[in-house]
Amino acid sequence: MLLLMVSAAGYLPAQNPGWIVPDDLKSKICPVKFSPEMVKQGEGIYLKNCQSCHGLPTKQNFAAIKPSPGDLSEPRVGTQKDGELFYRISTGKAPMPEFRNILNEDERWSVISFLRSFHKGYVQPDPGKSSSTAGKRIKLLMTYDTAKKRILVKAVELNKEGVQPAKGVGIVLFVQRYFGNMQIADPKTTSESGYAGFDWPRDLPGDKTGNVIVGARESDPTGSMQEAMVIDTLNIGVPTDKPSLTDTRAMWSTRDKAPVWVILIYTLAVITVWYFIIYIILSVLDIRKIKQA
Ligand code: HEC
Repeated sequence: MLLLMVSAAGYLPAQNPGWIVPDDLKSKICPVKFSPEMVKQGEGIYLKNCQSCHGLPTKQNFAAIKPSPGDLSEPRVGTQKDGELFYRISTGKAPMPEFRNILNEDERWSVISFLRSFHKGYVQPDPGKSSSTAGKRIKLLMTYDTAKKRILVKAVELNKEGVQPAKGVGIVLFVQRYFGNMQIADPKTTSESGYAGFDWPRDLPGDKTGNVIVGARESDPTGSMQEAMVIDTLNIGVPTDKPSLTDTRAMWSTRDKAPVWVILIYTLAVITVWYFIIYIILSVLDIRKIKQA
């Protein structure tokens, strides 16, 4: 895997040349105080997602690739602001993946809390100040217009004045499929009244009864905001009666649904091997008998 990624890295255009963190995002801070539990969670996430390239903090055993991932316990990282680390982890830079699609905001903060446990002299900024920088709280509502065959997504902003339509919010529409989410159409931006409309693809297959799980998510190109999301099951797909992938006997199915010939060959092989093992043991016993006689 690593070799593949490394060899691909040479050809990939940099996702984010320079990896410059926008000024207003540098000051982003974690909304909660780092706790030992958070550090522990962050360690687990780090071992799964980061260790393959960055090695273990302080051990200098990072992968020998270019550009060098480096050891994240170093002062070069320790002196960066929380917002900078958050931005870098969210957006990635080839070969480092964008983690905003892999880790949610809390998980990204817990990885940072884990890294901070190695940074001498680091003092966490007061989380109480984060509400002012956290930006707006957006909520999404989704409805289906049967006459126009359109999905309408409304974005509302919750603030001190109450609930108001939020304009200019990027919206991504997707449906849930077997292996993750499939995006439908290009992202749209909400209008003055807070609405974004998407024409529904009429040939999209649903389940037996035509149900599709549709979701709308706020799209934030920097991955730095809490992204609002709404998910609903709507009866607007083309009813499709396809057997589930694991319903029939097939190579890719679970063990008890393996193809009969695989089970037969496997059982035969096991029996043959055991036959020889027992045969050899009996022969050895025979040799001892001959010796004694
Ligand atoms: C596929 C390998 C790979 C993985 C996996 C990876 N990174 Fe990276 N990371 C890199 C590389 C390479 C760089 C250096 C990029 C550059 O400087 O151009 C980097 C840079 C960074 C930086 C900036 C360091 C600096 O010097 O400013 C941070 C922070 C970081 N990674 C955090 C993480 C975290 C946290 C994870 C896991 C959630 C992670 N990375 C997973 C390869 C990886």
